[in-house]
Amino acid sequence: MESSKPQLIDIVKISDPRGNLSVLQYPSTLPFEPVRAYWIHDVPSGMMRHGHAFYSAQELIVALSGRIEVSTESPDGSVKRFTLSRPDQALYVPPMTWRELDNFATNSAVLIVSNRLYDEMDYIRDKNVYNNLVNEETENND
Ligand code: TYD
Repeated sequence: MESSKPQLIDIVKISDPRGNLSVLQYPSTLPFEPVRAYWIHDVPSGMMRHGHAFYSAQELIVALSGRIEVSTESPDGSVKRFTLSRPDQALYVPPMTWRELDNFATNSAVLIVSNRLYDEMDYIRDKNVYNNLVNEETENND
């Protein structure tokens, strides 16, 4: 899958009296081949992670504990806001999607799985640069 829209994905959850086990596995339930995982934790109260988009990377974002909110903006200008609070649910974020993480509940831990190695050249960190790129793309397609 490479959907052009951010969307919530249900993660397989195996429950038994000992608790829950959730699993993502490529290609059956993970929409891309993972090559990197990182996690964000111990975020001070009121702090947001600066927004960015990726030229080519796809991501899944999972709130393993706690709760976060994620704002996304797609190249067509559509804006969405997601609340992540379940370890058996992931937000899929396609390339060229502006995304911001905020409203971290205390002690939240957020896992991010990517299909790319860390590469600063794949980041678009300036919202004006992002806006110009998607506007140029739209004009070229008209
Ligand atoms: P940054 O991209 O600013 O975090 P956010 O996703 O919240 O915008 O990353 C913070 C620092 O960590 C920055 O110096 C780059 C570094 N970093 C790595 O070295 N490897 C990684 O996989 C990631 C995601 C970040």
